Amino acid sequence: MPKHDLLYLDLPTYMRKFINLKWRQIILGLSCVLLIIACNNEHPTINTTPNLSTHSLKVATDPTFLPFEIQTANGNLEGFDIDLMNAIANAAEFTVQFERLPFDGMISTLQAKKADAAISGITITPQRLKTISFSRPYFKAGLAIAVRENTQDIKDLNSLQGKKIAVQIGTPGADLAKTIPNAKITTLNSGPEFFQDLLNGNVDAAISDAFGTLYAIKIASLKGIKVVGNVLTQEYYGIATSKDSPNLDLINKGLATVLSNGTYNQIYKKWFNTDPLQLPES
Ligand code: ARG
Repeated sequence: MPKHDLLYLDLPTYMRKFINLKWRQIILGLSCVLLIIACNNEHPTINTTPNLSTHSLKVATDPTFLPFEIQTANGNLEGFDIDLMNAIANAAEFTVQFERLPFDGMISTLQAKKADAAISGITITPQRLKTISFSRPYFKAGLAIAVRENTQDIKDLNSLQGKKIAVQIGTPGADLAKTIPNAKITTLNSGPEFFQDLLNGNVDAAISDAFGTLYAIKIASLKGIKVVGNVLTQEYYGIATSKDSPNLDLINKGLATVLSNGTYNQIYKKWFNTDPLQLPES
């Protein structure tokens, strides 16, 4: 066979080899590009991929606190805190098992490590920080005075002197009421009881969370009650754990993610129909 024939005959084989090599390079190149895209793809929206993590946290909540945690007629949990806790779990890759618990027993349950965490509109206070730990603040709140709509003589903290006041047991509202001269304090176990006692005329006023009360009046159409005066305190809610719990880092990591990727804002807007207030980091 003449030499040029051999060359000619070998050309397809050569081409095939060349193409194979080229394809391999192209495929390799494309894979690298895809890998880089996958690594850099930070999703700003709520991550809906099922959470396959086996790390599960038992999270206590007292679902009597509109709109943070409430129990619907069919027994489901709903509210700002519930959405937030689920989003945090999704971001930090753990699962949540909610456990209903009266607010009064929340702190001792955490201390006894019978729950891994609690989300329940819990105000971070120096007193509580002695026995339990808190995540970074996740909500700016404050106390307000609620009275019956036809009340004229109660306008601020001063005008509560000598009045009958309802508060929730073990809360900052209960602490504040104790400082009012001659006040007759009724201590109740849960939020909705305030409104009942107020409407019944059993008490003259209630000191409770401003957001919860305003939400009940405006959005849940609670009739016959108004909020008077300014917001009395500046408080922050935190997710509570036992003292220095190893879960705190995980919760803070998830909270930082949802605060920065827009999920927190979406949840805030859903429940309060406005943009969130500025939060400190600690
Ligand atoms: N913010 C108040 C506190 O920490 C009241 C919270 C009540 N929460 C509830 N889920 N019942 O004491």
